[in-house]
Amino acid sequence: MKKNTLTNLAIIMDGNGRWAKERGLARTKGHEKGAEVIREITEYCSNHPTIKTVTLYAFSTENWKRPKMEVDFLMKLLEKYLKKELKTYHKFGVKFETIGDLSKFSPKLQKQINATKEETKNYTKLTQILALNYGARDEITRAVKKLLEQNREINQDNISKALDTPYTDIDLLIRTSGEQRLSNFLLWQTSYSELFFTPTLWPDFTSSELEEIIEKYHMVDRKFGGL
Ligand code: FPP
Repeated sequence: MKKNTLTNLAIIMDGNGRWAKERGLARTKGHEKGAEVIREITEYCSNHPTIKTVTLYAFSTENWKRPKMEVDFLMKLLEKYLKKELKTYHKFGVKFETIGDLSKFSPKLQKQINATKEETKNYTKLTQILALNYGARDEITRAVKKLLEQNREINQDNISKALDTPYTDIDLLIRTSGEQRLSNFLLWQTSYSELFFTPTLWPDFTSSELEEIIEKYHMVDRKFGGL
């Protein structure tokens, strides 16, 4: 049997809060550890022979409902993360991109996000796409609105192109922490994705577990609605 190629990977990084709770720590410690895991996974993906994009669910349109202190912490963490990881992007040839509506973030953070994109735009080994203030329903609605404003036809091809990223069909979606749902993540792009759920909490996730999941993915018979 022919092995599936993995080009576009997406991950719902879940379980930071539970990881911290299990250790008697504040939830924010789980997020800090979670941000470090992003680096390991990004490095692994940048060295992988076929992965071209990794899309990570970092902050959803629903995450604003969390206590203000946690939201503020996540904003600060993102700021710190971008500052620190610029080195990683340069070292591993990673282009940084985002999906989601950035207009809700502070002007300072938006500036930093855009500067990081600008500085890494010529890298081609891997594109890391952070989903920030992202929700799939919001993304699809914005895409349709854009087409209507431009007086363009509403069809699948045009919607795909009007989404936040030039359309990438996700091959493999992983969710950590044992929850088995999509939580409004990439609903359009995961129509034919393989879905993998692992009980591992995100701060404990490693590149070797990712490799094991990829091995299983290679062996799945993908039919895309055919026989
Ligand atoms: C889910 O854990 C995690 C998130 C809210 C998003 C992922 C965030 C990170 C990995 C850290 C920060 C990332 C960046 C880019 C700075 P949860 O809090 O929902 O965990 P729980 O379900 O156990 O409570």
